[in-house]
Amino acid sequence: MKKFILGAMMMLATGTANAADISLPQHTEKGGMPLMEAMAARRTGRTFDTKMLSDQQLADLLWATWGISSADGKRVVPTARNTQDIELYVLLPSGSYRYDAAGNVLKQLGDKDLRSHLASQPFAMDAPVHLLFVTKDKKYGEMHAGSMYQNTGLYCASAGLNCVVRGLYDRAEMKETLGLEGDNEVVITLAAGYPKAE
Ligand SMILES: Cc1cc2nc3c(=O)[nH]c(=O)nc-3n(C[C@H](O)[C@H](O)[C@H](O)COP(=O)(O)O)c2cc1C
Repeated sequence: MKKFILGAMMMLATGTANAADISLPQHTEKGGMPLMEAMAARRTGRTFDTKMLSDQQLADLLWATWGISSADGKRVVPTARNTQDIELYVLLPSGSYRYDAAGNVLKQLGDKDLRSHLASQPFAMDAPVHLLFVTKDKKYGEMHAGSMYQNTGLYCASAGLNCVVRGLYDRAEMKETLGLEGDNEVVITLAAGYPKAE
């Protein structure tokens, strides 16, 4: 575990490219469901197929959640004084990652499947994608995370995917598992994937 944490910290500090990083395709800005229909369709879904999302779906889901949407670096969601003081971590079967929106890449932090650390609700374990919202901003961080997961939910509704926001996990354990420093915490999580076939 120490090795994983150290490696993760070094990669975060240096921004080093890693062969195991996942380069994402350009996100889609056209198409999808009309906004009002997506708002009406957004619902928590708690069944998941283990099938992985396509790279395009992953790119679109991440962009909808925390992408950059203007030339001056503003995001798809507002943040207080535009601090953008939140990081999106992603757990996949292939490992753990940090979403680098500017580089449109998932930076690998470790190659272990850490999804079982979120196992408090067994139904979520089939979901191939887990988002972890990490911030040290005690005043606004959770609000920012809420704006973000709402966007994820609208994207999932539009794309026919299931997702569930999850507060039922051990914050202290996730902080240690990810090697988060200082006041950084996982303030909320979200599981996403295809609905389980009937
Ligand atoms: C902050 C937050 C935390 C939540 N935590 C959990 C959770 O740990 N487990 C779960 O199954 N659902 C969780 N939910 C989902 C809610 O139960 C769900 O949003 C609510 O029942 C309303 O249903 P809807 O999303 O379909 O409108 C959470 C939702 C929010 C906004």
